[in-house]
Amino acid sequence: MQDAKTAVVTGAGGGIGSAVASRLAADGFQVFALDLRFAEDAWSEDPNRERIEPIAVDLGDPSAIKAAFEQLRARLTSLDALVNCVGIMRRGDALTISEQDWFDTFRVNVDGVFFTCREALPLLEKAGTSAIANIASNWGLTPAKGHIAYNASKAAVVSLSKSLALDYGHLGIRVNAVCPGEILTPMVEQKLRDNGLTEEDLAKPIPIGRVGRPVDVAGLMSYLVGPESGYMTGGAVEITGGLWS
Ligand SMILES: NC(=O)c1ccc[n+]([C@@H]2O[C@H](COP(=O)([O-])OP(=O)(O)OC[C@H]3O[C@@H](n4cnc5c(N)ncnc54)[C@H](O)[C@@H]3O)[C@@H](O)[C@H]2O)c1
Repeated sequence: MQDAKTAVVTGAGGGIGSAVASRLAADGFQVFALDLRFAEDAWSEDPNRERIEPIAVDLGDPSAIKAAFEQLRARLTSLDALVNCVGIMRRGDALTISEQDWFDTFRVNVDGVFFTCREALPLLEKAGTSAIANIASNWGLTPAKGHIAYNASKAAVVSLSKSLALDYGHLGIRVNAVCPGEILTPMVEQKLRDNGLTEEDLAKPIPIGRVGRPVDVAGLMSYLVGPESGYMTGGAVEITGGLWS
């Protein structure tokens, strides 16, 4: 029998996902952290690291997701929270993006989130009340120029989250999409390097005057999968420092 509340966090080796795993562990969850791979020292400084269990899985492969959840179902009676942070960004407009980049973007950003939700639903139902929070992007609401695959994949994450909210609300499962603006993570550091920009450049148009941090998103995730947001479902919650593209 499990005692603690349980959570699965995907993309948990990344900038936002690792902060979400830390925050949910601090909130008292037993966290199952899914990613392709983890840094040797992942969570080594985290005071709650004993509550975070890394599991290596390719979330772009539905059969690998299924196998990971078969193992989780053998160990858990229920799941209280699922936070999908997995995602990749590939640049290009309709004429310049490669077929490979288009398919990879959808395989990870859309299929990875969809199949993880689908595998988790039976365990989430068993919790009685539970929640999913899926990271989309503010570019899923208002597309950014030159990122057609990423924009469309994140719009799909918003729509699949709203669809899940409609279909499973009666089972006590709440589902929200989260739409961050610019959050300083390896993904954004790479974007800055590619464009010869600094963090200050990125901050200029942001009304609140700074680039976001992974802990900003982790705080929102903690709220969205916690009891205080019990009447929130089917939302697309923006966290952008006031910036919309
Ligand atoms: N950083 C931002 O400004 C920002 C803004 C809006 C949305 N987002 C979204 O937030 C999420 C997290 O982004 P981040 O900035 O922390 O990026 P990140 O690159 O640091 O983290 C993404 C994680 O996903 C993992 N991943 C990628 N493909 C995988 C696969 N096939 N199987 C398993 N894991 C895989 C990576 O290993 C990585 O750890 C992404 O969905 C991203 O699109 C980020």
